[in-house]
Amino acid sequence: MLETKQFDVLIVGSGAAGLSLALQLPDSLSIGLLSKAGVHSGSTAWAQGGMAAVLHERDTVDSHVNDTLQAGAGLCHEDAVRFTVEQSTDVVNWLVDQGVDFDLRNDQPDDEFQEFHLTMEGGHSIRRILHAADQTGSAISKALNQRIAKCENVEILTDKCVVDLISDGNRVQGAYVLNTTTGYVETIGAATVALATGGASKAYLYTSNPDGATGDGIALAWRAGCRVANLEFNQFHPTCLYDPKARTFLLTEALRGEGATLHLPNGERFMPRFDPRAELAPRDIVARAIDYEMKRLGLDCVYLDVTHKSREEIEAHFPTVQARCQALGIDMAVERIPVVPAAHYTCGGVIVDQFGATDLPGLYVIGETACTGLHGANRMASNSLLECFVYALSAAKHIKNNRLQQKYNNLPRWDDSRVRVSDEAIVIKHSWQALRRLMWDYVGIVRTNRRLKRAANHLKVLEQEVDDYYSSFTITKELLELRNLTLVSRLMVECARERKESRGLHYNSDYPDTLKASADSVLVPVNSRSQLTVLPRYSR
Ligand code: FAD
Ligand code: SIN
Repeated sequence: MLETKQFDVLIVGSGAAGLSLALQLPDSLSIGLLSKAGVHSGSTAWAQGGMAAVLHERDTVDSHVNDTLQAGAGLCHEDAVRFTVEQSTDVVNWLVDQGVDFDLRNDQPDDEFQEFHLTMEGGHSIRRILHAADQTGSAISKALNQRIAKCENVEILTDKCVVDLISDGNRVQGAYVLNTTTGYVETIGAATVALATGGASKAYLYTSNPDGATGDGIALAWRAGCRVANLEFNQFHPTCLYDPKARTFLLTEALRGEGATLHLPNGERFMPRFDPRAELAPRDIVARAIDYEMKRLGLDCVYLDVTHKSREEIEAHFPTVQARCQALGIDMAVERIPVVPAAHYTCGGVIVDQFGATDLPGLYVIGETACTGLHGANRMASNSLLECFVYALSAAKHIKNNRLQQKYNNLPRWDDSRVRVSDEAIVIKHSWQALRRLMWDYVGIVRTNRRLKRAANHLKVLEQEVDDYYSSFTITKELLELRNLTLVSRLMVECARERKESRGLHYNSDYPDTLKASADSVLVPVNSRSQLTVLPRYSR
């Protein structure tokens, strides 16, 4: 007999967005908090630079709003930007109440009211980034998980991967969930479901993200009939550590905020040639400049120079980066660090309103999975964590006031009577490699119509192969992730092909200009929700 569960609210994802939503909901509600791996498995625990907030005595909401709009290249929704920024100080107070220890200024140790140490990142016109050394995400994840562990109304379910949402076409009713330890698919009923599953940067061969960034929430919501938008804007972080034998590792933008400069192998500092803000221009500009120089000169990487900082300063502010460099034999206090851009953040996602509500009643999407309108065509550094907390709070209020007290006890069980255990898992491995290589080569920092068309053709074949496999064999986490990421990659390419201009992170050399009028690229599922009762796969 397979386990079935019921919750008032099912939250999928234990990163900044999922944890803060669970903590903000009333404790009278029963909450299931799912993670497909451990509780620290998402990008949140890896965040380095920090969280943007209006805290500096000379900073204003208008200034943060304007910087965000400018970085977003004319595509941000100003109401969403203002809504987010206006709540930044409340978010900071809430996080401090939860026990997050942000770094304080050390030049005023005797003051009764110490101020936070604020660092600088690209696109910001003032020091605005609150941080815990270069381990901000880990500090947040630890503090929030400690709080959650004390909440009796929250059941934490790790190693549980959502396969698909259950819906009658009018409302979400729960989800099918693969227990990755036993291999069984469980049915969980819930009249309110929140997807907080992070981004989709694993679509690319080189990424700063953890392995689970496979766009699951975007795929789940799309298959349940929700619109998605702006998926062509996948952000490439300009500075990831280059070592052909090691996993890609982020070198925080705060390094450049604290004066680090970018150089060619001959020592030339090249960013001033591309933008007056040089290394502190928004990410799309810096990543494209690096890509241009690497292609022009046939380079494997460029170099980041932090040697103006003393060893003590590096140790205090950048211990994580320093440790990783040291492990690869690089002493960043005296030598330049080899760097390349890598896929980092999914700016588009599932279309939501100010409460995180989607097209499907009862279904909310928050955090990196959502498209709130905040980031436009290019997210400004350190606005992502802020968005997670602001929209989690807003969704919590909305859920509290609008939730349906319905129980779903008779949901159809998952049926895998017509599939067998795979004897050709090599197909999965091969498809993973093909997908990530294809996206890197054809849908990268600079695109062309021909490359996008080629990507679309290849993805069609790949998607068909993955669907066939899914219909024939019992599921595994790797298969579910591949299925989701293949779909999301196809949606990324569709968005990219729809945009007949270059804007922000999307640069197409066949349309190098930016159109006067800006518009989101919105994709609508072919099947309307009323036709989309998501039943076990073999009922299709
Ligand atoms: P995540 O933290 O990614 O969590 C996703 C959760 O969903 C995980 O628990 C995962 O297990 C779960 N999940 C996914 N799919 C399923 C499924 N099918 N079933 C069940 N569970 C599932 N942003 C900033 O603002 N400042 C920074 O300094 C910063 N630094 C960064 C550094 C790195 C290296 C990276 C990768 C990102 C950084 N970002 C930063 C971006 C930011 O960290 C993320 O956008 C943000 O943490 C996303 O939070 P989230 O809650 O939406 O998702
Ligand atoms: C970084 O530390 O450079 C990452 C910041 C971000 O992605 O916002």
